[in-house]
Amino acid sequence: MAVDQGIGARTAALQAERERWVSASVYTQPLFVEHAHGARITDVEGREYIDFVGGIGSLNCGHTPEAVVQAVQDQAARYMHQMYSVAQYEGYIEAVKRLCACHPGDGPFKGLLLNSGAEAVENAVKIARYATGRDAIVCFDQGFHGRTLLGMSLTSKPMPYKKGMGPYAAEIYRAPGPYPYRGISGEDALDGFRKLLKTQIDPTQVAAVIYEPVQGEGGFLPAPDGFIEAIFEICREHGILYISDEVQSGMGRTGTPSAIEHYGVSPDLATWAKSMGGGMPISGVTGRAELMDAVHPGGLGGTFGGNPVACAAAIVALDQVLDPDFQAHATAFGADLRARLDAIAERHDCVGEVRGLGGMLAMELVTDRATKEPAAAETGRIVALARERGLILMASGLYSNAIRVLVPLVATEQDLDEGFAILEESLVDAFAGR
Ligand SMILES: Cc1ncc(COP(=O)(O)O)c(C=O)c1O
Repeated sequence: MAVDQGIGARTAALQAERERWVSASVYTQPLFVEHAHGARITDVEGREYIDFVGGIGSLNCGHTPEAVVQAVQDQAARYMHQMYSVAQYEGYIEAVKRLCACHPGDGPFKGLLLNSGAEAVENAVKIARYATGRDAIVCFDQGFHGRTLLGMSLTSKPMPYKKGMGPYAAEIYRAPGPYPYRGISGEDALDGFRKLLKTQIDPTQVAAVIYEPVQGEGGFLPAPDGFIEAIFEICREHGILYISDEVQSGMGRTGTPSAIEHYGVSPDLATWAKSMGGGMPISGVTGRAELMDAVHPGGLGGTFGGNPVACAAAIVALDQVLDPDFQAHATAFGADLRARLDAIAERHDCVGEVRGLGGMLAMELVTDRATKEPAAAETGRIVALARERGLILMASGLYSNAIRVLVPLVATEQDLDEGFAILEESLVDAFAGR
């Protein structure tokens, strides 16, 4: 397999421009894209990469899916923007209708469209507060909910997401999140949640809990069996709303349109983004109709939320996510990824745990299986080595030592064979210090 000979001239020139003009606070890799399709990216040097990150879960349907590209081009030629409060268009309604079909449970559900995952989270919290007349929101350790003021306030990892950027939004309470590999079982986390409702905030003041069924940035931690169900029961008992943050775990990543569907719970509200636009920026909130209608007219919305071009893309992407054949494919695809990661774990002691749900999987790397010392430096080195060899990877997790796999669900057998070979080779070399 081809090993990179260093940064090319065009990349070096663009990197210099990037350093001159673009804020250093935005994290970047030394990779500039020329074009991309399926699970492959070609950079400005003409080098090809297999993409195991997929825009961090935004490309479940792959780069430049033909039907999405066509829908975008057709819509752009008709009109590109209106602002939904000024002049309505059918595409917005059609996109919301499909998003509501992704919301597990019997409904009736309604929705609204926004621009980003963080904005969806903001709106779900506004709706929950308004509908309940309560202020407090409970979130969980290892949770990530975005980079806006409220999003970072709900997020549990100070570096790099929060440090130095407070004061944080008020009335946020954080309970322990399950992390069985590091000693926090579902039962422990549940006890922590119950204790929080005794020691920190009375349940009658809590508007909602927000939780990712598979915590993404936190390290691909799926909720242990019974945890979501038990939290949901406690919420029911106290009139607390349950918000499922499906921004990273939704849109077929775990096989089904939402990840919470695996736990048999119908959340009051759900947040969606990333892959729902097939690569275009769009997000949404869905929920029980009476909640979604609670806020006075004009209380929700925004200039570009549900932009017509993004809606045209989302309609195609959502149709794919809702297609039972695609869901069956995504489920089988996830099982294949799992088998490949388990095989790597069997061969290498540095893999402490392979975990996840469906096609949302990661392996947590350690320097020693007994002590579970996080191998953060080696993980960073794997990412760098893999990039040089033509595979795009990204770390996640509280200790930045989990290699996540968010490869587009349309990746071919060849993409996976080549990608996993590079991943394993890079892992071996990173731990050997090469
Ligand atoms: C679970 C979850 N919620 C919210 C967000 C924020 O989404 P965005 O980056 O589109 O604002 C993310 C982003 O990674 C996420 O994973």
